[in-house]
Amino acid sequence: MELHVCKNYNELSEHIADWMVEYLCKTLAMHERFSIALTGGNTPKKLYEILASDEYKNKIDWSRANIFIGDERFVPFNDDKSNAKMIRETLLDHVSVDEAHVHFMQTENMSPETAANAYEEVLEHYFNKNTAQSTFDLVLLGMGDDAHTLSLFPGQKDAINEQTKWCTYLWVEQQNMHRITLTAPVINASKQVAFLISGESKSSALNYVLHKKYDPLNYPSQIIKPANGELHFFVDEAAMNG
Ligand code: 6PG
Repeated sequence: MELHVCKNYNELSEHIADWMVEYLCKTLAMHERFSIALTGGNTPKKLYEILASDEYKNKIDWSRANIFIGDERFVPFNDDKSNAKMIRETLLDHVSVDEAHVHFMQTENMSPETAANAYEEVLEHYFNKNTAQSTFDLVLLGMGDDAHTLSLFPGQKDAINEQTKWCTYLWVEQQNMHRITLTAPVINASKQVAFLISGESKSSALNYVLHKKYDPLNYPSQIIKPANGELHFFVDEAAMNG
């Protein structure tokens, strides 16, 4: 695991933007396309805005990207809680991404179960699940104050311990909504996984996740451990030190 500690939220966002440019350009020097699973939540907004800025938008050839998403709130596409909506507005609407290569989760006109199964199929097809040696080139993840990542919330035993399915759905009582989420097996087969964590409110969860005993049922971010890939934590001083 590699820990990158940045002074504050702005520096964190700039640092990961530069890290992504370097890594994704290297990937594109060797491969036709790259695959990335983007994260929702508030923390990545600044990063996405930087990547979409005039200074950065041509540094990554987004026309050669295959875009996925780590988890989604089961709300209509135009709902302000939609992760896909936020990602479109802050990043995808401003770069040269090919819409045919944007793979978001369906949250309308079907049940959460059908939507999760449909996304499983998208992933199985894209990565050839039966023979896949690895999955995403890069996964970006956030972490909540309670150490959840994706929609793997503390106590959600089935989703956290899922070994086979790459995508599942769950009901989150505290938020009164269904969520669709990728699971540990598909994330842990990725080449690079990067957490983005900012702010004092995350410090006690971060401390536990990094330094305390393995207890993913209560601290689900600990389940993320790429088997052959790299794990990075990009954090700011407030998250690191409280
Ligand atoms: C979501 C997420 C979730 C998020 C964390 C951190 O849909 O909310 O994908 O896992 O990354 O809750 O969120 P913040 O960045 O807003 O703190």
